[in-house]
Amino acid sequence: MDRIYITTPMYYVNAEPHLGHTYTTIIADTLKRYYRQQGVDAFLLTGTDEHGDKIAQAAKENGMPPQAYADRISGVFRATWDECGIDYDHFLRTTDDYHKRYVQEILQKLYDSGDIYFGEYGGFYCYGCERFYTEKELVGGKCPDHQTAPAYIKEKNYFFRMSKYQQRLIETLEAKPDLVRPERYRGEVLAFLREPLEDLSISRPKSRLDWGIPLPFDAEHVTYVWFDALLNYVSVLKYKGEDVFEAYWPKANHLIAKDILKPHAIYWPTMLMAAGLPLYEHLDVHGYWVMDSGKMSKSLGNVVRPLEMKKRYGMDAFRYFLLREMVFGQDANFSFDALVNRINADLANNFGNLVSRVLAMQQRYFSGAVQPLGALRDEDIALRDKFVQAEEDMKQHMAALQFHRALESLWGAIDHANRYIVQTAPFTLFKDAAQRRRVGEILHHLLEAIRTSARLLAPFLPDTSRQLNTLLGISAGEANSRKPWGTFFPAGHNISPPAVLFPRIEPEGDR
Ligand code: MSP
Repeated sequence: MDRIYITTPMYYVNAEPHLGHTYTTIIADTLKRYYRQQGVDAFLLTGTDEHGDKIAQAAKENGMPPQAYADRISGVFRATWDECGIDYDHFLRTTDDYHKRYVQEILQKLYDSGDIYFGEYGGFYCYGCERFYTEKELVGGKCPDHQTAPAYIKEKNYFFRMSKYQQRLIETLEAKPDLVRPERYRGEVLAFLREPLEDLSISRPKSRLDWGIPLPFDAEHVTYVWFDALLNYVSVLKYKGEDVFEAYWPKANHLIAKDILKPHAIYWPTMLMAAGLPLYEHLDVHGYWVMDSGKMSKSLGNVVRPLEMKKRYGMDAFRYFLLREMVFGQDANFSFDALVNRINADLANNFGNLVSRVLAMQQRYFSGAVQPLGALRDEDIALRDKFVQAEEDMKQHMAALQFHRALESLWGAIDHANRYIVQTAPFTLFKDAAQRRRVGEILHHLLEAIRTSARLLAPFLPDTSRQLNTLLGISAGEANSRKPWGTFFPAGHNISPPAVLFPRIEPEGDR
């Protein structure tokens, strides 16, 4: 059986879930649902990253011990994903015992093989990123991501001999052009690797930071963040058992944004090489959501919170906007105007109207009972073919993580269905008693269009898809039926009266 292992980053517990975290988690969920629907066994991992300086700092600011603080925020992440209907298979915490044990096992292994050594290092450290920056990487002396001046840190640490694997990593990236996607990020990684790679500092003396995992070979030092967190992708599988590990590793698709490209494209593969494990299948890198009104920040009061979005617009409408608006790999703009416009245009008007018109006619003309089909006419064939083509196109786009294109293809078919109504004009035909049989056929074709939409939409808008199937009288077991067009609904099958799927939203302007 085909398998895929999909991961989100382990989110830091120094902030509550916002738009950025939600986007990655939603695309991960969409992919999982999509692959499951294709009969692929998909496993989705998400979780929280809880060790390190900045978490310890945040806990202190909140007057809480780090563990209690991490418990609280990790709990908020988990509850948020539950409330958002994210279908994850496991929620990992880097403070979980099995994870800590696995990190220690790998530390010991690499220490024994000579890939971890004790040394001294001085360099520019960004606490926001929890990593050292080379002078070249800094922009105007500041971290390009956090726009803060890094601290100069010099201390004795344990180091991971990353430099040893530089050449092998370059060769792997060249031999496997789809290891890091899209191409621009692979290019960035290769450009970075043109300079000699430095070894990676992986520990802190306990005297300065004790919120980490103790090194098994030196109790005076702890490891934290990258050496700790990246191993989560494997530790969880080991914890679930060797069988799960064999099944899902290395079939991993890691989903991240560009901010954590370097740790995932350089630290992680070299760590895997040192541990003697095969590399992941794909690292899929998306761009950043930026606010129309400027940077998203607590102080500006413009932080987009997923549960608030769910309450205001509905989860599926919010998902639709995120998936339809961002071109995977590029930055995208978030504005409430754009969100409301998309929901109104694509969901309330275009798709919502199609469903309500068809179901209303089905009710009015035939009391909900599906009518038999005769020979297909040219316009019926064109409608069917449009949906068949949309499904094919969606497959291509999903393989390339082009969520926006996948939805665009489906909406092309939905547009066509709306035009088919205008073209065939069932409301006019119905006035002529001799044409009523044809009206029944037209509506039957339109119900097929809606049924197909419900199936193709399921990974993207799961609640809407379920709701549509309920209206169409399709059981959960039949929701994924691939019965050919025109053979699904028996004559007399009962269709429910229309319900409002997406209420129109009155534009309220940006907050
Ligand atoms: N803890 C590390 C990851 C360790 S993984 C082994 C971390 N955590 S984080 O909380 O900062 O999450 C970063 C991730 O959140 C990004 O890679 C992305 O998935 C998501 N996003 C956070 N802000 C974002 C935007 N503004 N836009 C899009 N996604 C961003 O880094």
